Amino acid sequence: MVRPDEFQMGLSSRKAIYIQFPQAVPCSYILNMDDCLGNNPIACGKCADACDKRAINYDDRDQIITREVGAVVVAIGLDVYDPTELDEYGYTRFENVISSMEFERLICAGGPTGGHFVRPSDQERPTRIGFIQCVGSRNPKVGRPYCSNICCMNTIKDTLLLADHYPDVANVVFYQDIRAVGKSFEDMFQRSKEAGTRYVRGLPGEIEEDPETRNLVVTVENTTSGKLERHELEMVVLSVGVQPAKDMSRIASMLTLSRTSDGFFMESHPKLKPVDAPTRGVFLAGFCESPKDIKDSVCQAGAAASRAGALLNAGQITIEAITSRVDEVACTRCGVCAKVCPYGAIVWKKGEVASVVEAACAGCGSCSASCQFGAITMRHFTDEQILAQVHAVLAEDPQDKVFAFACNWCSYAGGDMAGISRMTYPASNRVVRTMCSARVSEEMVLEAFRCGAPVVLVSGCHFADCHYINANRQTVQRVHKLWDKLEKAGVRPERLQLEWISAAEGQKFAKVMRQLEELRGTVTRDEIEHAREALKAKPGKRPGVRAAEPVVEAPAAQT
Ligand code: FES
Repeated sequence: MVRPDEFQMGLSSRKAIYIQFPQAVPCSYILNMDDCLGNNPIACGKCADACDKRAINYDDRDQIITREVGAVVVAIGLDVYDPTELDEYGYTRFENVISSMEFERLICAGGPTGGHFVRPSDQERPTRIGFIQCVGSRNPKVGRPYCSNICCMNTIKDTLLLADHYPDVANVVFYQDIRAVGKSFEDMFQRSKEAGTRYVRGLPGEIEEDPETRNLVVTVENTTSGKLERHELEMVVLSVGVQPAKDMSRIASMLTLSRTSDGFFMESHPKLKPVDAPTRGVFLAGFCESPKDIKDSVCQAGAAASRAGALLNAGQITIEAITSRVDEVACTRCGVCAKVCPYGAIVWKKGEVASVVEAACAGCGSCSASCQFGAITMRHFTDEQILAQVHAVLAEDPQDKVFAFACNWCSYAGGDMAGISRMTYPASNRVVRTMCSARVSEEMVLEAFRCGAPVVLVSGCHFADCHYINANRQTVQRVHKLWDKLEKAGVRPERLQLEWISAAEGQKFAKVMRQLEELRGTVTRDEIEHAREALKAKPGKRPGVRAAEPVVEAPAAQT
């Protein structure tokens, strides 16, 4: 059966048995059984007859091969944006509107036309070609607000190729910004302009076709000159962006990886661990982490391989001491801890006591904060230790304090940044550090109110920045529950605040502290006393919680 050749972007055809692309390694034929006329019984069998090495095996089947490995490098690549949905560019209506991928095949010596660049409608060589940039990139309307990183340089390269092969061709590039960032890239851009390519700052709204000449009419506002321009072109190339590969969700759930809002895999830390996935032993390379060019992909692949090699050759692995621990006696076998663990580090089966795989535990503490029975806790950040800090901070004059829980990696560092940048903010705040905002349990917040805190802040990293994959989503759920609880108890919910403050946002930290100080000034002594009474702990509910320390008689709240 004859099918469109996927590698040649459907511009030529292939048979049921074929080599996927000329540079394939190994360079051997594959038999696509979906396209074969049938092997049970064998309907054609011509490939087997032609193969004197007898390499055709109709009984071969796909297999799932299981391997035990010490490290995984994820390099699953990308998908190219399909511009069909942008009807204004007429990609499916006009034959001579092609994508940049199709352009690559048409100009390639190994392409369907043997490198003779012709337009699809009449197989004639076009002499006026337009390139439209950012098709499916930097466009929130099509769900792709990010820059695809490679399209500007790809178009610049294409214009240079055209200028080299066909000096009589006139090229015009419609763009919003040219991002020629990289070694010698600006030089290439200048060479393209010197070779005669015209760059027009502005993206066309629509493409129309002249039915007689089949020429494409592009009207665009040149935002540099402020004039409306009309271009009659023989071919238009849509410089399409890239998008996350369609298998990403499956790989993400297999390896407990998290994804950015754009859909790419999230690295452990953008500066300090750019090729490590948050799941230990998993490394990222290439496009799956973010759009990047060949050079950056090669660098990242080398770095990922080195990181994996270092792990495999270590002999012994050192892990952080801050990990969770299950109290087998207190565990009620409910499995909540296993459900909230972003790393899948808790082993639990229905009806069985949970256990922690310490090598996989990263120490966020969401399990501990979620356990209603005090059966799981974190070494070095136990309930008792955190509650002791709450009691100590609020032992004297609690009504004068803004009590804050801050995660180690972002909000606490944001406070540091405010300090070292000499920013001024009220001295009323008292910060207790936890590794992640997800470590802050309901009981810790309630205990702060019981101890007389007028205002409590829970703060952590911005959503995509949580250092424990997406543990801070647990924080949000918990705070929402707490707001409901406070409301039911007749406590103003705004006395509990949730803020995302990054390590670089010293200014935001200072601003939040000023706002909370203002809020603190509105909380009356009656309100504080009411909260103490209304939120009284149910004795024995959670072993980590002790009764609030007696509070020294307070002066009237400031206003
Ligand atoms: Fe900051 Fe999770 S590490 S909120």
